[in-house]
Amino acid sequence: MTSSFYEGIRVPWVPTREELLDIIMRLADLKSTDIFYDLGCGDGRVAIRAAKEGVKKAVCVELNPVLIERAKENAKTANVADRIEFINEDFFKVNLSEASVIYMYLLTSVNRALRPKLESELKNGTRIITLDFEVPGWKPIQVVEVALPMRTARLYLYVKGVSDAGAETI
Ligand SMILES: C[S@@+](CC[C@H](N)C(=O)[O-])C[C@H]1O[C@@H](n2cnc3c(N)ncnc32)[C@H](O)[C@@H]1O
Repeated sequence: MTSSFYEGIRVPWVPTREELLDIIMRLADLKSTDIFYDLGCGDGRVAIRAAKEGVKKAVCVELNPVLIERAKENAKTANVADRIEFINEDFFKVNLSEASVIYMYLLTSVNRALRPKLESELKNGTRIITLDFEVPGWKPIQVVEVALPMRTARLYLYVKGVSDAGAETI
């Protein structure tokens, strides 16, 4: 699958709920050496939280120029703008090889399309956390269900080199 397959798919901006941020951070098991990417970072809330947790660098990749400006403003207000790199680009065109943690709140179809890129660019040991949508074919290391008003959120933790080992080709 390539970005041309993806071009017809639109992922709307639906922000991660604030009450999930603590759980996402715990699941990510962040360290001061981590480089944290949010693919489709919206208003930057997850990357901002990772920066506040003291990662080496957070990277906010967002296609929508209005949202990335909002993310920059939010990062300034939170006093972490100097620890976040903002990339106003299609995440299919961004090299992900430096990431040690990736967060994605996208769609199953988009995760499927991203999978070959993740498999070829990420280092073994990189943690990948997805909200609500799986990476098809990968084995999660952990799945956390969180009861929210009106629905149950599901967080998936994958580790590159483990979750994708022996995964069937898609
Ligand atoms: C469901 S929202 C999640 C926002 C943020 N990650 C969060 O959890 O609060 C998905 C975001 O991905 C962005 N997006 C969709 N396709 C993208 C692409 N190809 N490259 C970069 N950003 C994209 C959308 O504009 C939207 O802001």
